[in-house]
Amino acid sequence: MSDFQLTRTLDEHTAETALRADVARGLTRTPKALPPKWFYDARGSELFEEITRLPEYYPTRAEREILLERAQEIASASGARTLVELGSGSSEKTRHLIEAMPALDTYIPVDVSESALAGAARTLLEEHPGLRVHALLADFTRALRLPASPGPRLVVFLGGTIGNLLPPERAVFLASVRAMLSPGDTLLIGTDLVKDEAVLVAAYDDAQGVTAEFNQNVLAVINRELGADFHTADFAHVAVWNREQEWIEMRLRARSDLLVKIRALDLVVPFTAGEEILTEVSAKFRQEGVRKELASAGLELVQWWTDAAGRFALSLSVAGGAER
Ligand code: SAH
Ligand code: TRP
Repeated sequence: MSDFQLTRTLDEHTAETALRADVARGLTRTPKALPPKWFYDARGSELFEEITRLPEYYPTRAEREILLERAQEIASASGARTLVELGSGSSEKTRHLIEAMPALDTYIPVDVSESALAGAARTLLEEHPGLRVHALLADFTRALRLPASPGPRLVVFLGGTIGNLLPPERAVFLASVRAMLSPGDTLLIGTDLVKDEAVLVAAYDDAQGVTAEFNQNVLAVINRELGADFHTADFAHVAVWNREQEWIEMRLRARSDLLVKIRALDLVVPFTAGEEILTEVSAKFRQEGVRKELASAGLELVQWWTDAAGRFALSLSVAGGAER
């Protein structure tokens, strides 16, 4: 018996309207910038999975190491009957957590990528025939309406994806997650940690060029959805460590002077040689910073675990002041 439901809170029309607005705004401002969620069409989700297997991309392996080691502790600290995962992607690492939670009733993966949600649900239901999977096609930066399911809830946000939000966006996001928690619920967040610059840059600029292709995929999405005529080869992938902000910046750099037509917007976007589009930041964290950001959102850090090499951290928190 398989128990799968998918709720779409994003229809194609809303998504296209949002993409138009983001592209119109992002490519007419200086410096040019695009929000990262548009990387993840079916091809983008596939490329991200390829990134997680690259020798240079350590965060996935480091986070999996912590999850394998701590799954039991997390499961018993949360006592959860519902697991909500934001930006769940392939749910590949989450499986270790689910295996440690025999009393789990419902898994609610939330993602903007329908192909990722469908693939993840298929695999999970094969492995856990009794599990209820209620996927939400939704933008986690917007107010989420979660389906009814038994408490307590464990909300997880893995992969360091929180670092893809800018600090003010993180504050709004954490406050909205805090508002989702009832007394007794817990929150598990994966954060990549500040480390040697060369290690960080290599993780976002691999030798095989998979990350470059992933970055350029956002241009292919705009071509397809908005009838633009970007040639992805006209843009070089650039990854830079911003020491002041402690984040990696992913950019696309025009290799020459260019004019790009975006038919659906009736817009021509000029690029001068060397001009860049900021496509994503990936912030790296320190424990004290995480504790403070959580506290500002009314969340209390109760556990902090890292992998043996200290590259990545998982933090468990609860609503501040709540009885546990
Ligand atoms: N959690 C997985 C995937 C991380 S990649 C892992 O740790 O490997 C980031 C995921 O978040 C992708 O699956 C992407 O589709 C999703 N995502 C990005 N922005 C989103 C948004 N605003 N709302 C919902 N999902 C989003
Ligand atoms: N959440 C991932 C991270 O920050 C996303 C990511 C990995 C990414 N590699 C990328 C985004 C390359 C854009 C380009 O690590």
